[in-house]
Amino acid sequence: MTIKTAVADLTRRRFLGCTAAGAALVASYPALAAPQAPPARPLVAAAGRQALAFGTATHLVDTWNYGGAVPGPLLRYSVGDRLRVDFENRLPEPTSVHWHGLRPPNAMDGAAPLTQPPVQPGARMTYEFDLTDAGTYWYHTHFRGWNQQDRGLYGVLIVDERNPPQVDRDLVLVIDDWVVTRDFTLDTSFGDMHSAAHAGRLGNVATVNNSSDLAIGLSAGERVRLRLVNVANAQIFALKFPGHAPVLIAEDGNPVTPRPLGDEHLVLGPGQRADLILDATAEPGATLQLDADTLTDQLHLARFVYGDAPGGSGLAGRPVAPLEPNARPTPDLANARRIPLTMEGGAMGRMSGAMMGGRMMGMRELVAAGRVWAFNGVAGGMEAPLATLKTGETVVVDMVNATAFPHAMHLHGTHFREIERNGSQVDGAWRDTTVMAPEDRVSVVFVAEQPGKWMFHCHMIEHQSAGMMAYVEIEGERA
Ligand code: C2O
Ligand code: CU
Repeated sequence: MTIKTAVADLTRRRFLGCTAAGAALVASYPALAAPQAPPARPLVAAAGRQALAFGTATHLVDTWNYGGAVPGPLLRYSVGDRLRVDFENRLPEPTSVHWHGLRPPNAMDGAAPLTQPPVQPGARMTYEFDLTDAGTYWYHTHFRGWNQQDRGLYGVLIVDERNPPQVDRDLVLVIDDWVVTRDFTLDTSFGDMHSAAHAGRLGNVATVNNSSDLAIGLSAGERVRLRLVNVANAQIFALKFPGHAPVLIAEDGNPVTPRPLGDEHLVLGPGQRADLILDATAEPGATLQLDADTLTDQLHLARFVYGDAPGGSGLAGRPVAPLEPNARPTPDLANARRIPLTMEGGAMGRMSGAMMGGRMMGMRELVAAGRVWAFNGVAGGMEAPLATLKTGETVVVDMVNATAFPHAMHLHGTHFREIERNGSQVDGAWRDTTVMAPEDRVSVVFVAEQPGKWMFHCHMIEHQSAGMMAYVEIEGERA
């Protein structure tokens, strides 16, 4: 099957069964942290060991983490709070922290080396900004991510709504995949050009909150909010909830009109999030699955395990109300500036060469330099902006995926909305990352909000570092 049809299929394929096996592991992340007070909180990046349950056994894996665990501490705030994190780097190499999906001022964006110098080993940096958006976000390294993020440098950041939906419990499900060796140590062949030129570093084990068979306890009759976060380097998960009928309420933190998933898969590309309302409608004692299709596999990810007695406050079955939208400038589509962005390169691509470091290079030379992808003929175009914009300006980016692989395009500093997909007008939700299948043509609109240099890249980290990155420069006062 071609990747094109595989990606298309991910959105419509039905549950095909899975091999659920393995030990139960108590969900560690779903337990809610108490709301954080806005004052400074420390965050340390360091090497450490993390228990990961792969199948029937638990393995201690060497990771790099925030706060001593993978995922890092759940940072939780209320909309309008000010985030203040005193970050310290105890890793053996420089790093930075990026607040994915949030809209901080440019200097706090963490996109090293574009917006700040990387934080050196032993050094510290304070990140501080106002949290203007409610929703489910995450934070991760933005320096040598193909190595650092894969080793575990990420965590979830929740900004609570002023009027959160009524639920019995609020559960965070962090989905990752790992490349492990036969003896279950982390394979450290990071940055190999083969995966960079193909679909990126794809794991051979997928985990939810550190288990390949997470048991999520439910009581019949309760209503839970699920916050799903795909932190994998490159894997696209198409999630399926057989027996349950979850309702989608937000994508990438931003509210959508509540929409029952029905038979549809929930596609989550790298970096993307989804918030769902799930009513526990099965009988006490039941076990239902959380499955995922990927480009190559059908996986079992987790189990919903019902207790013997009903529980909850009787919310299950009630209508799901929409969340309040996050405030943002309104795009002026009639006067939008258009930027073309053609994605090229990779294995089985047609690219014969690209600009790098201000000079044209053939494929052989590019491969030797670790660059195999390009935007508009420039491989890793961080020497000059893709466009220089004024704050308040409305911009439409017309993206064309002229490669043989899917990509997950992510813009820093603001959110965008799809307005056109493969020739049809669409009314997309505001989000920060969008998945494009091979040959897809997708147009997104955004408003240039804050001055500074804002990255626009593929969130498949190996693609990013091998050339799929660019930035826009925005001038003026905050819009
Ligand atoms: Cu989540 Cu530029 O990244
Ligand atoms: Cu990509």
